[in-house]
Amino acid sequence: MALVAIASAKGSPGATTTALVMGALWPRPVVVAECDTAGSDIAVRMPAADGGVLDGDRGLVTLAAAGRRGLRSDLVLSNTQQALGGLDVLLGLRTPEQASGVGTMWPQFGAVFDGLEGYDVIADLGRCGAQTPQNALMRSARLLIMVCRAEPSSVVHLRERISVLAEDLDPANPHGTPIGVMVVADPKKRRDAVRQVFQAVEQMDVPVAYRWHLAYDPEGAAVFSGSVRNRPDRSVLVRSARAVTGEVARVVAPFFVEAQVGAYSSAPPEDDGEPDGLAPQPWQQPATNSGATHAD
Ligand SMILES: Nc1ncnc2c1ncn2[C@@H]1O[C@H](COP(=O)(O)OP(=O)(O)O)[C@@H](O)[C@H]1O
Ligand SMILES: [Mg+2]
Repeated sequence: MALVAIASAKGSPGATTTALVMGALWPRPVVVAECDTAGSDIAVRMPAADGGVLDGDRGLVTLAAAGRRGLRSDLVLSNTQQALGGLDVLLGLRTPEQASGVGTMWPQFGAVFDGLEGYDVIADLGRCGAQTPQNALMRSARLLIMVCRAEPSSVVHLRERISVLAEDLDPANPHGTPIGVMVVADPKKRRDAVRQVFQAVEQMDVPVAYRWHLAYDPEGAAVFSGSVRNRPDRSVLVRSARAVTGEVARVVAPFFVEAQVGAYSSAPPEDDGEPDGLAPQPWQQPATNSGATHAD
């Protein structure tokens, strides 16, 4: 169906957590594919759906081996496994050294993920530097989301990385890959620090078509590092991610709208009188024309 790539420029702003929370809330069947050559985090952080341990030896490396003569959807699916909450995950490399086992498969991964039968794919690319091989997967994506924090150093590196990646992705071209940014920040900073990040990317020569804000919420994020929490669907992070995830899903496949519900929303919470997400912001409104942005 559709491939969404999630990456970061520097540091550890929350790319993996963003991929997992979006996967949990995704409105269609989805696989979260861990494509970070720094090594798998999901295998060590998340329990399996049955409460056991995920099999760290099954994932991208076994997929690469099985698909040497051609990658197919069924091979991708036979190498995925279910994490807590029923989320389908394709685990990444156990160690960075395993990157050689994947070799030059990255463009093929991109193509098969974007065409995966019956599933969208959210690929967590991790930190994407100048030479990181997983960059080759981005060209197949319908959207690249760069995750950052609302801090000056994060924004400087974000801008630099977007400028370089845009040379390849050609986001201004209808056939290129559009770029969005996801700012992880305290909801209280939405009107100042988050807005400043939006302005900083808006002023770039490169078009950044989408700008989103995800709540900084350590307790909510800890669930995606394996912590047990009562009613994770009520965390500030999950609440803020609902509207954003719906938007991203609509951006990459506008013909399918809220057809299904994801792992954390499959059992609707009893109405506690509070709204589902943060108050809708202007940048969370669907685009009304091409090139529209989501910043206020
Ligand atoms: N939205 C968030 N709110 C609070 N903490 C977060 C959030 N996203 C990530 N974190 C925390 O930041 C750290 C790095 O997150 P991670 O998702 O692994 O980042 P990356 O994949 O960019 O390295 C982890 O401790 C994680 O729990
Ligand atoms: Mg990560």
